[in-house]
Amino acid sequence: MATQAEQTDTGHRPVLVVDFGAQYAQLIARRVREAGVYSELVPHTVTAAEITARNPLGIVLSGGPSSVYEDGAPQFDDAIFELGIPVLGICYGFQVMARALGGTVGNTGDREYGATEATVVGDGGAILGGQPGTQNVWMSHGDAVQSAPPGFDVLAHTSVTPVAAFGSPARKLYGVQWHPEVKHSDHGQQILENFLHHVAGIPSDWNAGNVIAEQVERIRAQVGNARVISALSGGVDSAVSTALVHKAIGDQLTAVFVDHGLLRKGEREQVERDYVASTGVRLITVDAADIFIGHLAGVSDPEEKRKIIGREFIRSFERVQRELVAEAKAEGESVKFLVQGTLYPDVVESGGGAGTANIKSHHNVGGLPDDLDFELIEPLRALFKDEVRAIGRELGIPEEIVGRQPFPGPGLGIRIVGEVTRERLDILREADAIARAELTAAGLDQEIWQCPVVLLADVRSVGVQGDGRTYGHPIVLRPVSSEDAMTADWTRVPYDVLARISNKITNQVPEVNRVVLDVTSKPPGTIEWE
Ligand code: XMP
Repeated sequence: MATQAEQTDTGHRPVLVVDFGAQYAQLIARRVREAGVYSELVPHTVTAAEITARNPLGIVLSGGPSSVYEDGAPQFDDAIFELGIPVLGICYGFQVMARALGGTVGNTGDREYGATEATVVGDGGAILGGQPGTQNVWMSHGDAVQSAPPGFDVLAHTSVTPVAAFGSPARKLYGVQWHPEVKHSDHGQQILENFLHHVAGIPSDWNAGNVIAEQVERIRAQVGNARVISALSGGVDSAVSTALVHKAIGDQLTAVFVDHGLLRKGEREQVERDYVASTGVRLITVDAADIFIGHLAGVSDPEEKRKIIGREFIRSFERVQRELVAEAKAEGESVKFLVQGTLYPDVVESGGGAGTANIKSHHNVGGLPDDLDFELIEPLRALFKDEVRAIGRELGIPEEIVGRQPFPGPGLGIRIVGEVTRERLDILREADAIARAELTAAGLDQEIWQCPVVLLADVRSVGVQGDGRTYGHPIVLRPVSSEDAMTADWTRVPYDVLARISNKITNQVPEVNRVVLDVTSKPPGTIEWE
């Protein structure tokens, strides 16, 4: 998970979110940002001295998977509570606080998981004040705080947890047993905001406009007069990072878009026409479809496809890069920098070598070689995806690009199960365009994280159309709902929407005679079929 070395430099004093190893830490960091406060993740091994060096405005301790008394339970430097910095402990973090400050934590055998009713005690103090006396909250714990530390007020309880929230106004230390960061907790965001704004006195000054202004300054200072290259993929991250750099240095930047022939319908036009029109970016498109499809001939294995696509992507990019370097040289200038759309979750997940990093590594296909002789410009390194979208909108990038759902770098190449051919790509492109248009028209884009449309190219089955029998391919619809693509559930798309998609695809794409729905969660299924 997060490491000290990975801290990003935004010029903002952060709220530090201490990661005890549960899946909730990134979510807490995002919710803090949604409150207009800049946040960063740090591992639970952080020391009081390291915290002091970061000069944070506040600290939030995340939940964790374990009991504070378990062997190997994540440890914490209790001296941090003595620094005078406001702290909010959540779930495991709440228990760490209780134990360190002289309260008692016990295992009563009464676990609470999922929706639970909490009752506010007294006026609820600074974090629960003004909220309804009973509220639905999301719990996930075995141990419970039995008594609050001396000098702390009990602020809430549940039927099995005598101390479900506490606080010390004098020391600015607060805690809740439940998870205010999840939407199932009724007034969760309010609790976080009360802590940030009222307990810690932090103003809301983290927003898209400020980030753009700060990054523009920073990029100008970093780049000077040199030239810069950026690889556009058609996805959100590269589109926004490129537009941000363009805003800072204008035509010192050239964007390169490799059309590998595995794009979806309309994507090239969106980049060449709409993106360029809205940003003014100088763009070079590399027409490489023949090359890619040629190299993919006869290949069915998904990992092999990924390797070929990744390799050819680098080759295409390097060809243009050599030309741009030569052109700059002829004009007495140099190309020194490369833009990358690295996001904060990438930074966090590549930091610690935890399981997530390994899972993600194979998704870097379509990225750039790491031996290019460039310095990197990574203006999104401190940002979460929703913040990147907000910045993209502020920069005027068309909604079709900014609001785009995740799409794998190897594109339709891994959504054809079997060999990739031009004809099969055409079939899938049509079916995919129909499904996307109908889901958008039904207003489902927010609910659906992404919806791979997959062609089972090696499967054929009998059908009937008019008077004749058909022998066509199935198309699989894979709509999923997710927070981060690590886990996902299949989206309950209304039957009438599914019916429209099925009718249109089987009517308009002659090679397809069946449309089937994937109703598997992840795990055990992955999102893509490949
Ligand atoms: P899976 O299929 O592993 O996908 O559940 C998780 C997320 O990763 C995306 N994905 C890829 N992205 N190159 C990418 O850039 C790839 O090779 C690749 N394979 C999967 C997938 O779309 C989902 O968002």
